[in-house]
Amino acid sequence: MLFGAFNVNNMEIIQAITDAANEENSPVILQASSSAIKYARINYLKKMIEASLEEYDIPIALHLDHGPDFETCKMCVDSGFSSVMIDGSKYSFEENVALTKKVVEYAHSKGVVVEAELGKLAGVEDDVNVSDADAMYTNPDEAKEFVERTGCDSLAIAIGTSHGAYKFKGDAKLRFDILQKVKEKLPHTPIVLHGASTVIPELVDMCNKYGANIPGAKGVPDEMLHEASLNGVSKINVDTDLRLAMTAAIRKVFTDEPETFDPRKYMLPARDLIKQTVKHKIKDVFGSSNKA
Ligand code: G3H
Ligand code: 13P
Ligand code: ZN
Repeated sequence: MLFGAFNVNNMEIIQAITDAANEENSPVILQASSSAIKYARINYLKKMIEASLEEYDIPIALHLDHGPDFETCKMCVDSGFSSVMIDGSKYSFEENVALTKKVVEYAHSKGVVVEAELGKLAGVEDDVNVSDADAMYTNPDEAKEFVERTGCDSLAIAIGTSHGAYKFKGDAKLRFDILQKVKEKLPHTPIVLHGASTVIPELVDMCNKYGANIPGAKGVPDEMLHEASLNGVSKINVDTDLRLAMTAAIRKVFTDEPETFDPRKYMLPARDLIKQTVKHKIKDVFGSSNKA
């Protein structure tokens, strides 16, 4: 089963994602980064998500995305999140093991599951040569040792994706061979793909048509996400595509109706376009729809 995990920062994004998931009768993961929590404030995020749970009868999880340290993970566990990610990928292997283990021990004692990360997600801007790039990908043997030693419940791996709108200079390329090896060694561990936005060309074009300057943006094509799911990826993280949808819709209103200054007049089309984007992913890409 493949789950979409969508980043949330405000009410309209939460409503758009949960409206889409509800219409598709699909479970959905809402995830908040530590900067999203700083922006929206943890209680607001929690209460808005509680409101969506009251409104809809679908499974909705609240997940901490890229928890930077033990304290942030603890805050989210204590505050009732369904799961937390501890991102120790910037540390050495041993430091990552130690930090992840500490989070796992605490989270498990409270019945909360933990996603961890091994390997580095390089962006297209990161000028690396081939051997440096190889060193960034997740090592399948290390992945097995890491999961065994930390007891983490799921693992984010690096196979060539990266965060943001500029993922590839030439053709999109992912190391499915590494994914397959990780899966052989960890057949029962759900694998997570970060930096998995498609960078939907129509949304990029719409942003640029209405005054944005996002040239040459490129993401992971839908067919590759499908292939990733066939090779054992269980959770696919999406933020950039939602940012593009929101920006495109708002820019269009600002361009077409310069006299408009009622925020509802541009937030409503923004919410609608995010909803359409999420529905497309649930239905056509992730296949998590249970619509009768
Ligand atoms: O993986 C990063 C997500 O896109 C969240 O980004 O830290 O700017 O909220 P953020
Ligand atoms: P994108 O930037 O590709 O949307 O990735 C989001 C992500 O990985 C959040 O953790
Ligand atoms: Zn991420």
